[in-house]
Amino acid sequence: MQKDISLEDKTKYLFDNLSKVTNITTGSWFSLKEINDIANQVTQINKLKRENDALILAHYYCSPKILFGVADFCGDSYALAKKAKEAKEQNIIFCGVTFMAETAKILNPDKKVILPPMTAGCSLASGITAQEVLALRKKYPNAKVLCYINSSAEVKAVCDTCVTSGNVFKIVENTKQDQIIFVPDLYMAKNIEAYLKNKGIKKEIIAAGATCCVHDKFNLAQLNDVKNKYPEAKIISHPECLPEVCKNSDFVGSTAGMLKFVKESNAKIFAVFSEWGLINMLEAQNPGKKFIPCGRICASMKRNNLNNIESVLKNLTDLQGVILDKNLAQKAKQAIDNMFKETENDR
Ligand code: 13P
Ligand code: SF4
Repeated sequence: MQKDISLEDKTKYLFDNLSKVTNITTGSWFSLKEINDIANQVTQINKLKRENDALILAHYYCSPKILFGVADFCGDSYALAKKAKEAKEQNIIFCGVTFMAETAKILNPDKKVILPPMTAGCSLASGITAQEVLALRKKYPNAKVLCYINSSAEVKAVCDTCVTSGNVFKIVENTKQDQIIFVPDLYMAKNIEAYLKNKGIKKEIIAAGATCCVHDKFNLAQLNDVKNKYPEAKIISHPECLPEVCKNSDFVGSTAGMLKFVKESNAKIFAVFSEWGLINMLEAQNPGKKFIPCGRICASMKRNNLNNIESVLKNLTDLQGVILDKNLAQKAKQAIDNMFKETENDR
């Protein structure tokens, strides 16, 4: 989506897309009246955005009103971090969760970065502390220390390289060290082990942290149930899911990876083992295909809405946005820069 499209075109884009997707709060299609009301607020937000030199970035799990109405760019964690790094605007409104806005601030220390709900937690990011990582570093001095981007700035500051769901397998595979400390996603660590085993690569993964409170609820029984009911369905899942869910999926990848897989697939029906919001983007991009939502919602992502975005834009001068200690941000930036280097070198 281009930032410089006219407000009229933007409203048309909203109509075209919202008319194709399910409103997950009501379970039905958006009515024409609902779309009209949304369009009025969206037009106001897009005007404020231009007047205030602001860029709106949104993760795919956000509401379709944000994705199709006011976002200048929608993406997975990797693409959003990259877009934030290239931002020309003085103000970045990041519709996502706290670690994503922090990452944008680390990459843009001189810009104002605002998360509309101000704070929005992630069970992974709060699942490990910098002290715990430092203790692991001491115990395994020869290990490379990787942190999933779903981690705090303090944790990133004590790690070697940051990874996302879109590049984690390649970065691990290309790591020279035999030992890797991986934090904070315990299930992703198990999925990395399975990936390495499949490729015949021997490495020790030392994992610590937590699980995603959204993806960790999907289980094999649910997956088998879906397979029985819809034998022709392709199963797609996020690497934050349990290893047995990933093992029995047709595709495992980031949100952007899942969107790409569906777009390129000839299959007509897909079961989505990820956050429900992704269904809206899938529906909008693939009108002829059917999606079985597996029903999990990330409450933190849903705390971003048109009202708090509008309020942020109206009060931009009074808001400070994300604040990080300069020294800490510089150290954390090293891990993110290493991720960009290790990902781009692989292409
Ligand atoms: P992606 O980078 O795949 O979009 O994942 C982010 C996330 O938080 C998934 O739960
Ligand atoms: Fe964090 Fe899970 Fe929400 Fe993603 S879906 S932001 S990992 S809690």
